[in-house]
Amino acid sequence: MIAQKTEPKMKAVVIHEYGDPSVLKLEQARIPDIGPKDILVRVHATSVNPMDWKVRAGYAKDWIKLEMPAILGIDVAGTVEQVGGKVRRFKVGDLIYGKASYSKGGSYAEYVAVNEESAALAPQTIPLDRAAGVPLTATTAYQALFDGAKLKPGETVIITGAAGGVGTFAVQFAKIIGARVIAVTSGANAEMVRSLGADQVIDYTREDVAKKTKNADVAFDTVGRESANKAIHALKKGGRLVAIAGEPDKELAGSHEINVISVNASGGRIKLEEIANLIDTGKLRVIVDRELPLSEMKAAHELSQSGKARGKIIIKVEPD
Ligand SMILES: NC(=O)c1ccc[n+]([C@@H]2O[C@H](COP(=O)([O-])OP(=O)(O)OC[C@H]3O[C@@H](n4cnc5c(N)ncnc54)[C@H](OP(=O)(O)O)[C@@H]3O)[C@@H](O)[C@H]2O)c1
Repeated sequence: MIAQKTEPKMKAVVIHEYGDPSVLKLEQARIPDIGPKDILVRVHATSVNPMDWKVRAGYAKDWIKLEMPAILGIDVAGTVEQVGGKVRRFKVGDLIYGKASYSKGGSYAEYVAVNEESAALAPQTIPLDRAAGVPLTATTAYQALFDGAKLKPGETVIITGAAGGVGTFAVQFAKIIGARVIAVTSGANAEMVRSLGADQVIDYTREDVAKKTKNADVAFDTVGRESANKAIHALKKGGRLVAIAGEPDKELAGSHEINVISVNASGGRIKLEEIANLIDTGKLRVIVDRELPLSEMKAAHELSQSGKARGKIIIKVEPD
């Protein structure tokens, strides 16, 4: 008798169609194959990014092509289980954190394939759960402020959405290089962003950023077109505006002589190594709103989609 070959399976949150959070289903799925430059990671934790629910809802389908059924999730922290033939930087057993890709299959799963250039050794001084909240948001904040806006010591930067995943890292990066930070957030999060180093907090529910400040050098908007447009009025002539959640009005920006800079989240290994070092030297903290198990992905997406998450939503895949 010939033995039937059974494919190894894993638990994963899968979508079979675009739609509301109810399309997220906890199921058995195939363990992904790895390419020569990939590592197979046993996922300890992942996190929810707004991009995940935008993709789930189908808002990004013109440029992110998913093959259904699909597994979402970019952020990952876990253990290297297997390495591809050309992998040089990692070995089996390493604890890593990094970014998966929707095209290879995401990290809402027990195993995920990650290109070795999108991963680094995880920070050693924080648990892997917290490390899973770092990759996409921290590399984006880093890229926006330093590669995009070229923020310099002594400059003033307005950070809108300062209490969110990207914003909490942006406030800290700006302080690390010695900039003055004006954080825009709701009053409920004012103390938290002050504790990250913000010099001034503007409560957008009661105050208008352009009335509270003029002549800032840089604005980093993580909220949307409307708030990016407001920030234009708070910048000096020649100021730089980076917006990652909605294009500002280019004509308005031009009429105020503001340089609009775009970035896309492509920061990989080198930034992740630097960020791990900042965490391990006590310069960078990870703010966690809450931790939920993989089985509660629907609730996690609802919270992210509410726009009210305070720092990161962590999803624990592997029990402690
Ligand atoms: N282009 C890229 O490469 C890239 C990469 C990463 C993220 N993104 C995008 O960047 C955006 C932010 O991501 P994220 O992970 O930081 O999101 P997030 O964690 O979900 O952000 C939630 C935060 O937004 C704040 N907020 C909501 N409305 C606000 C307003 N009008 N003014 C100021 N703060 C406001 C909330 O604070 P309060 O409760 O205090 O209002 C909350 O803490 C998302 O749209 C995401 O898709 C783009």
